[in-house]
Amino acid sequence: MAVEATAPGKAILFGEHSVVYRGPAVVLAIDRRARVVARKRDDDRIFFDAMDLGFSGYFTGETYVPLQGESWRGKRLQAFLVAARKTMEHLGTESGLGITLRSDIPVAAGLGSSAALSVATVASVGGLLGGDLSQEEICELAYEGEKVVHGTPSGVDNNISTYGGVLRYEKDVGIERFELDGDLPFVIGDSMRKRSTKRLVDRVRMLREREPELVEGVLDSIVLVSESGLAALKANDLHRLGDLMNVNHGLLSSLGVSIAKLDMMVHSSRGAGAYGAKLTGAGGGGCMIALSDEASIEKINRAILRCRGEPHVVSVSYEGAKTREVD
Ligand code: MEV
Repeated sequence: MAVEATAPGKAILFGEHSVVYRGPAVVLAIDRRARVVARKRDDDRIFFDAMDLGFSGYFTGETYVPLQGESWRGKRLQAFLVAARKTMEHLGTESGLGITLRSDIPVAAGLGSSAALSVATVASVGGLLGGDLSQEEICELAYEGEKVVHGTPSGVDNNISTYGGVLRYEKDVGIERFELDGDLPFVIGDSMRKRSTKRLVDRVRMLREREPELVEGVLDSIVLVSESGLAALKANDLHRLGDLMNVNHGLLSSLGVSIAKLDMMVHSSRGAGAYGAKLTGAGGGGCMIALSDEASIEKINRAILRCRGEPHVVSVSYEGAKTREVD
């Protein structure tokens, strides 16, 4: 018997970086999913197959033994190893595991692929070992994995991958989940530059230490934009949403987390008819998101391609983490 779990990736509409300190992030689950299959093994090894990314190997204790690919890949697997072990600890059981990781969420692009894989790892291991984990438990256990890679993540990524849909998320406050009135067409542009969330969060933290008053002011403005953005989203006011996305991009740029290619894609998308566009996620590479109407989608796609980015038309996925038994 094996258990498969899937969980969605995400795009942050408002509030990345500020959410690490205070205030809300407004975030959408997107229709791109991570897929994890867990099986029991007779030994005590935890085996990972990530052959989509070109590697596989296993952990025996803390030691990573690569079977295909380089040994440093073991570091990249730490989050999922911790997620699996914390799940077993939580259930008071132990087993060797074979874990297959697959994902159609672009990796290291700000679309939450690592959180989605952590959530799906917890859900599949929990399902396999007979634990009927609640969404809350899945979310909390996946956060343990996230902390290993990201240091002090706000928790927005594991929450959206667990619950799906559209969330207002605030640290120490929790989530408000709601449904949109109709389907908003979003175009995501991937700059194809990989980056580390932890490094970018650190960069903002260091700027804040050097220039506390200035950075506090910018963070306050992002909080305001996020609250207004939430109201505009609920009212389906696309023009206001677009304006606020543009302001949010400017504020993130002022924190030093944009790059020229993201700026180019953002400005080209606006020129191609987007209501608004901004970087999404930690920045430093990764993705931007444009709010479009149906008529402009093709033009925005072409604008992103002209900037040598990769466009993805995405819609909101209301399905959070999901498990099922497989052969
Ligand atoms: C990453 O998806 C979003 C950041 O705000 C970091 C975090 O919330 O942990 C940049």
